[in-house]
Amino acid sequence: MGGAQPLAVTMNGGVALCVEVDPTRAQRRVTTHYIDRVTDDLGEAVRWATDARMKGEPLSVGLIGNAADVHAELLSRPEFRPDVVTDQTSAHDPLSYVPADVAPEDARLLAIARPDDLTRRARESMARHLRAMVEWQRRGAVVFDYGNNLRAQGELGGVPHAEGFAYPSFVPAFLRPLFCRGVGPFRWVALSGDPQDIYRTDQAVARLFPNNAGLQRWLRLAREKVTFQGLPARICWLGYGERDRAGLEFNRMVRDGELQAPIVIGRDHLDSGSVASPYRETEAMRDGSDAIADWPILNALVNTAAGGSWVSVHHGGGVGIGYSLHAGLVVVADGSVRAERKLARVLRSDPGTGIMRHADAGYPEALEAARELGVRVPMAQAF
Ligand SMILES: NC(=O)c1ccc[n+]([C@@H]2O[C@H](COP(=O)([O-])OP(=O)(O)OC[C@H]3O[C@@H](n4cnc5c(N)ncnc54)[C@H](O)[C@@H]3O)[C@@H](O)[C@H]2O)c1
Repeated sequence: MGGAQPLAVTMNGGVALCVEVDPTRAQRRVTTHYIDRVTDDLGEAVRWATDARMKGEPLSVGLIGNAADVHAELLSRPEFRPDVVTDQTSAHDPLSYVPADVAPEDARLLAIARPDDLTRRARESMARHLRAMVEWQRRGAVVFDYGNNLRAQGELGGVPHAEGFAYPSFVPAFLRPLFCRGVGPFRWVALSGDPQDIYRTDQAVARLFPNNAGLQRWLRLAREKVTFQGLPARICWLGYGERDRAGLEFNRMVRDGELQAPIVIGRDHLDSGSVASPYRETEAMRDGSDAIADWPILNALVNTAAGGSWVSVHHGGGVGIGYSLHAGLVVVADGSVRAERKLARVLRSDPGTGIMRHADAGYPEALEAARELGVRVPMAQAF
């Protein structure tokens, strides 16, 4: 179990059964309202989930257990029929994934004392876990990889490639049409530390995009249900021609004293033009360019030239070291004229590289977005 999934499911009216090996982490997610209830009794967890489903009530249930074992037990109960199965354990790192026969506290010690042994045992468990996911798919569930590289680690644990990669990454399965339009996770932090500043930016974003029903719904739910951790922050999905409007509005609000301190704007490393990750964001690209790593580097160069406050190129985001390259970006809205110029350029060029990357791969949605939004893509003549 990661933090995001149980809350995402209940926000969408669903019922989630989430397996977590570490009771302390599970309890922390109850305290921070990311999950509703926790038990270490599999029968009780299934009963709670089934009752909620029958009543049509949203509920997230945390089950303390090891995913590699629990999947096998759930598969042996034919009456248990999940609609959707995915996984958010820390499978990208075999020293963080807890093997089936090891307690979490012992795994932490083994990671230091005998890392090779722990890696081997973690991969064996991930192979079992992966086979169970494939079996859920065979039984009719929608199964997708959440971007934690379970399939590649399971392969290293002995599952043949074609068997383990039977189900797709979430990007080709669901997100790519958004990436083709430069739409991705845009986020910002209030340096004042005052949640009121985030609530004011929420209202500003809602005012800017009144016809985006999904965004309006998300902003309402996020305010109601997402607990701030550290400096107050917000995330939402915006695309080319939208991010710069939001950034410029935040800058105006800082300048006019509507916000108490500057806003720092960033985005996830998971974004449309900033990543080469063949088992995640760039899996199954139309032109086979899954592993072409020029794009994140081009993205970082363009964002640096455009005036990003902090631009980074990093390795391993989401799927682990050796499997991906990403470019990160931060730009500060401090109310100045200089910031205004930078925001206008950076928050266009960044999602613009996403449209270019997908147009270059021949996606009709990206070529259409480039035409509609006025992004010059000279190589589009070739299509
Ligand atoms: N698709 C996305 O946008 C997205 C977003 C966030 C994270 N992720 C991926 O999800 C993975 C987890 O990320 P996170 O930030 O939630 O990490 P996290 O460390 O907060 O959560 C992972 C949890 O898995 C638990 N765990 C480890 N081995 C287990 C096992 N065998 N059985 C049951 N539980 C086990 C850990 O105790 C931990 O609580 C990463 O690989 C990350 O790349 C994807």
